[in-house]
Amino acid sequence: MKTELRRIWARIDLQKYLLRWENTNLVEIPHSFFDFEQRSIDVGCGLGAYIIRESAIRPKMAFLGVDKSSHRASMIENRIDQTRHKNLFFAHTNIVPFLCQFPDQSLDEITIFYPNPWWPRKHRKKRWSYHPLLTKLASVLKPNGRILVCSNECFYLAEWLEAMNHHPSFSNYQISYVGPARFEQPRSHFEKQFVSRDMILGEIECVRRDLT
Ligand SMILES: C[S@@+](CC[C@H](N)C(=O)[O-])C[C@H]1O[C@@H](n2cnc3c(N)ncnc32)[C@H](O)[C@@H]1O
Repeated sequence: MKTELRRIWARIDLQKYLLRWENTNLVEIPHSFFDFEQRSIDVGCGLGAYIIRESAIRPKMAFLGVDKSSHRASMIENRIDQTRHKNLFFAHTNIVPFLCQFPDQSLDEITIFYPNPWWPRKHRKKRWSYHPLLTKLASVLKPNGRILVCSNECFYLAEWLEAMNHHPSFSNYQISYVGPARFEQPRSHFEKQFVSRDMILGEIECVRRDLT
């Protein structure tokens, strides 16, 4: 696994990968997102449980959920309207070209709860742990910013740990792993389902620690 991951990272180029969106209209970043000094993005936010709850608990931080599913988009848009939280935002789009519009060092937090692990080997390059977006995930966070990745798949957590510990863009990140993780209060829709089924879950936190 290690050699394969490294071989693929060495070959992929984010700028070339982005060419596939060259002729599409990109979804714009909500303007008032930058009115907040602290900013968090939930990648593949699903029904938005995490951002809805956290935007109430942390009113000084802007929470932006991003999901490409049309089915979930209308549901989450309704839920967000009902909260009336001014620090809560949603973008119905693919995170890859969308995140690339953000300036480097502009986010405090990125959360990825239970991404699809793309189990079949032929689809492995679609996993975030292999993805060209990793370089942007690393550069878009501010110093002391963090990425949180949660999964119910042991192999995927191992792959993520390998990626965080060895990908060249993450050399300035401090990595910690918790597993099996216990959650009194599930943070996302999938987490709630997994907890109710007593499934084993794990999470990886990566904090940017630049040398000063
Ligand atoms: C397994 S669900 C998890 C949903 C939510 N995070 C949770 O824990 O309840 C994965 C979500 O990621 C979204 N997703 C997958 N790839 C994406 C991408 N490239 N850009 C935006 N959303 C994506 C899917 O539409 C789906 O809603």
